[in-house]
Amino acid sequence: MATLAFVGGTGAAGYGLALRFAAAGDAVRIGSRTEARALATAARLRAALPGARATGHTNADAVAADGCVFVTVPFAGLATALDALHDRLDGRLVVDPVVPLVFEGGIFGLAPVAGAPSVGEWLHARLPRSRVVSAFKNLPADELASLEEQLEGDVVLCGEDREARAAVAAMVCRLPGLRPVDAGGIANARYIEAITALLVNLNRRRRARTSIRILGIG
Ligand SMILES: NC(=O)c1ccc[n+]([C@@H]2O[C@H](COP(=O)([O-])OP(=O)(O)OC[C@H]3O[C@@H](n4cnc5c(N)ncnc54)[C@H](OP(=O)(O)O)[C@@H]3O)[C@@H](O)[C@H]2O)c1
Repeated sequence: MATLAFVGGTGAAGYGLALRFAAAGDAVRIGSRTEARALATAARLRAALPGARATGHTNADAVAADGCVFVTVPFAGLATALDALHDRLDGRLVVDPVVPLVFEGGIFGLAPVAGAPSVGEWLHARLPRSRVVSAFKNLPADELASLEEQLEGDVVLCGEDREARAAVAAMVCRLPGLRPVDAGGIANARYIEAITALLVNLNRRRRARTSIRILGIG
């Protein structure tokens, strides 16, 4: 079983992913800018899932242990969060679920990412010594956080390192109901992020909770 760290794991996405991986038997390290918030979130996770191996830390301490790191913070705070980690992500597998959503003129869209067409590509350039894989961008956190709900959908993932993509695909396979879809290079992150904008607009319009399934690939 793996050890997974969640930078900003006190939020909806980090908590939901941590909960599901804890249910699959992994040890999860919840990170926060404030240790007390991380400790409270880890305690909430253990209450929801008795026996879960979940601990709370500052973000820097959360990533200090070996293992994969999820960056589950809003894009607006991502650069600051990374700066605080210094070189601790060097050589690491970094999973990027970040979508730069904005709500403007009655519709969700994507905020421009300075210097890159997507957050995934920005992160790949920002962390040249890490193995960045964009994934889990299309899964609603509410669904992840409710263990009674059966997960359903495809997790489209992309990144420049084939082995890193395979490692994340194997992680996805540990979550019942989800299927990994390897989309290849990191340039596909721009399209994965755009799909999320469509999904949240559908959710708002139909009071639904949507995810995606790719047909035609067996
Ligand atoms: N929510 C979803 O359904 C969903 C689905 C797919 C992808 N995502 C992506 O996952 C990421 C996290 O989403 P979320 O809904 O969990 O976000 P969130 O609740 O707004 O934020 C997550 C955590 O990030 C930390 N944070 C907030 N602002 C920060 C800043 N300026 N600098 C550093 N840390 C900051 C906070 O932790 P502390 O205050 O404890 O440090 C917060 O609890 C986002 O990029 C989002 O696009 C979300």
